[in-house]
Amino acid sequence: MSDAKKLFIKTYGCQMNVYDSERMAESLGGSGYTQVATADEADLILLNTCHIREKAAEKVYSELGRMKPLKDARPDLKIGVAGCVAQAEGAEILRRQPIVDLVVGPQSYHRLPEMEARIQTGKTALDTDFPAETKFDQLGKRPTAARAPSAFMTVQEGCDKFCTFCVVPYTRGSEVSRPVDRLLTEARDLVARGVREITLLGQNVNAYHGTGPDGREWGLAQLIRALAEIDGLARLRYTTSHPNDMEDDLIAAHGDCPELMPYLHLPVQSGSDRVLKAMNRNHTAEGYLRLIERIRAVRPDLLLSGDFIVGFPGETDAEFDATMDLVRTVGYGQAYSFKYSPRPGTPAAERTPVPEAVATDRLHRLQALLSEQQYAAQDAMIGREVGVLFEKIGRMEGQLIGKSDHLHSVHAVADPALIGQVVPVRIDASARNSLSGTVLKP
Ligand code: SAH
Ligand code: SF4
Ligand code: F3S
Repeated sequence: MSDAKKLFIKTYGCQMNVYDSERMAESLGGSGYTQVATADEADLILLNTCHIREKAAEKVYSELGRMKPLKDARPDLKIGVAGCVAQAEGAEILRRQPIVDLVVGPQSYHRLPEMEARIQTGKTALDTDFPAETKFDQLGKRPTAARAPSAFMTVQEGCDKFCTFCVVPYTRGSEVSRPVDRLLTEARDLVARGVREITLLGQNVNAYHGTGPDGREWGLAQLIRALAEIDGLARLRYTTSHPNDMEDDLIAAHGDCPELMPYLHLPVQSGSDRVLKAMNRNHTAEGYLRLIERIRAVRPDLLLSGDFIVGFPGETDAEFDATMDLVRTVGYGQAYSFKYSPRPGTPAAERTPVPEAVATDRLHRLQALLSEQQYAAQDAMIGREVGVLFEKIGRMEGQLIGKSDHLHSVHAVADPALIGQVVPVRIDASARNSLSGTVLKP
């Protein structure tokens, strides 16, 4: 038996949870933990959870149920719940599932080392504070070991928008932006570890307004331009953005900042003005379409992605058709669509739901249209030369897998020495969820 304690983290939900899981593992590294790939070999299991829809939240309890035999067999095993379900349900988790030792919210996980020490004494630990000190100031130095070429970096967290269907303002708290100098340092350190692409994360990333080195408030475009200056950082992306925060300089950056990749995730949720209003989205369908036109004017090959909710309370057939029309007008290269899920504590959950069968039918129709658009966008890449950042060895002999500028997964026969480089690739074929191509001489 080695002395190193073993940590297994399972991550649900959005990219911010992926980033948080990495930071939690790093912070527990100081308590002697190394990360392992399966629950069976772990001394501490952390579930980093998502509360966005009922199904996502319920998954946590079924996973905990599956872990009960593990805990019965090894009473020393510790189990923790982190993330948005931890924030939303707090002590209720400890009541409902006694195998849980620790519950930590997304804003207090810098306190994990103390919490871990506490549970080793046989007590439980619960922390769902929104502390005044931000976790980013408290978390220790990040490791320096080499890492994969693409990384997430949280620049903004929380949301003040209060869409009537959404739990995020309650689970993540109000908007906080990290200062520019901290982000530049973190990005430089990531690049020194082999990172070539950084995706800037925020629940409303384009509402970013961090303190700049000049003491003024910087917007996302300013931050992107400063990050783009870092030697060795080839690509920048950001997600998720809100249509009402697409300011002029950010739109301009899509046209004149070559490091900013031609991909934009810009959720609209619905194409009906009445539904948008009931959702508290604060813009119209027309306003969204005008915005897309302005961004495409500076970056015509931009690949657009979006999020949609069908079956919002009160949504009529005609209102759903307005969503279908908007999708036809925009033409998405990629999209996520969901059946409305009532969330406890949100205003929309008080309203009369659309019958389940109606919502299901709408979801199928919307998804069929979105898939058609996705495949058309993929097919349009055939014959084109694209930049691909190779990330890892593929499943087939001799193949590498990477991401194109437009965020398509691309595989090609290539020398493993090309991992971590952006390489020109000619796209030859399109499959369901990926493209394949031929590496061109750089
Ligand atoms: N901040 C992002 C979205 C975060 S949540 C934004 O403003 O666009 C990711 C997506 O989950 C949302 O865009 C929405 O489409 C979906 N979603 C959020 N709450 C939901 C709910 N109650 N039911 C169904 N889908 C939901
Ligand atoms: Fe949720 Fe709306 Fe905030 Fe997005 S903008 S996180 S959908 S409340
Ligand atoms: Fe889910 Fe929380 Fe992200 S609810 S989508 S993990 S912000």
